[in-house]
Amino acid sequence: MQMVSITDLDIDQKIISCLRKGRITTIPHILVLPNEELAAKAHITAEDVSKLREAICRKLNPQQPCSLLDIWKQTCHPSFLHTKLSAGCQIIDDTLKGGLLVPGINEISGESGSGKTQIALQLCLTVQLDVQYGGLQGGALFISTEDAFPTKRLHQLAHHMQKRLKSQNENLMDSIYIEHAADVESLKTLVNQRIPTLLMNSNVRLIVIDSIAAVFRVEYTVNENLERSKALAELGQRLHIISHKYRVAIVCINQISDVVSADKVGSEDIGGRRVIPALGLSWANAVTVRLMVMRTPYTVSQLRGAAANSGNAQQDLTKV
Ligand SMILES: Nc1ncnc2c1ncn2[C@@H]1O[C@H](COP(=O)(O)OP(=O)(O)OP(=O)(O)O)[C@@H](O)[C@H]1O
Ligand SMILES: [Mg+2]
Repeated sequence: MQMVSITDLDIDQKIISCLRKGRITTIPHILVLPNEELAAKAHITAEDVSKLREAICRKLNPQQPCSLLDIWKQTCHPSFLHTKLSAGCQIIDDTLKGGLLVPGINEISGESGSGKTQIALQLCLTVQLDVQYGGLQGGALFISTEDAFPTKRLHQLAHHMQKRLKSQNENLMDSIYIEHAADVESLKTLVNQRIPTLLMNSNVRLIVIDSIAAVFRVEYTVNENLERSKALAELGQRLHIISHKYRVAIVCINQISDVVSADKVGSEDIGGRRVIPALGLSWANAVTVRLMVMRTPYTVSQLRGAAANSGNAQQDLTKV
């Protein structure tokens, strides 16, 4: 199917250059934005927005009625539909066939000290890299809900990555926004109000919530399971909308729970314990990709030797 780009539209070139300045470069991007937002992002008038929409309709075969899905297929390059964000680790990327899914909610769960925050910090750095290095050429927003943000550790990782990529010019720390949400209410305010404003005014392509379990586990008692499920489902829905609308990757860190019932569906074995990501079924339904990390006795160099002998060790290190 022939792709239609914004330069093919029969419209004033000034509008096209305004769109470009507002980082709106494809027809699908125009289609998903509401009129006011499109006008604000591209700094164009409401009249220009109408002209733009009319030009798209004229271009996309107005003789025959067509559905939004037809338009989407006609204007979308396949690579635009699903992008992958590198985790900054070859073994993890290979396991995930390229990296984390964008758009979508990627959950990373695991025991304390298993490396969840480490992976999230690495993602905050890799998201800024060029597409050829697995990045999305954008910034990151890191929302801490429990501990203070590990600034020193991020500095160490950024320094290491800059050395590895031999990049002296860019400062990888500059494009990482940090927020703190101590309770569910603050997290809701962030997601409903401040994040959309930030995304409209910046090139953030990754949002990390570390961790989602910390706020939802403490605030609701056992008798308030229904309220918690509703709040989680609402949050999940809101995050999906944000992820698709702004083409950002969402990473939610989760804790794990021991499985006590006979039903072991979705659980994993960690050192003889049956565990499952926390927060129950309503959260599980909101998540696009579930990853579970665990510590093993292996290191990468040992692993390469073992992998050459048995072929199984890589699976142990990267079990997800
Ligand atoms: N600055 C650092 N340098 C090297 N290793 C570190 C540093 N900070 C933490 N670590 C180690 O990295 C490992 C992973 O820690 P990380 O904080 O990512 O775990 P986590 O899964 O997020 O744990 P938690 O659930 O407690 O937040 C731990 O063994 C930790 O001791
Ligand atoms: Mg952590």
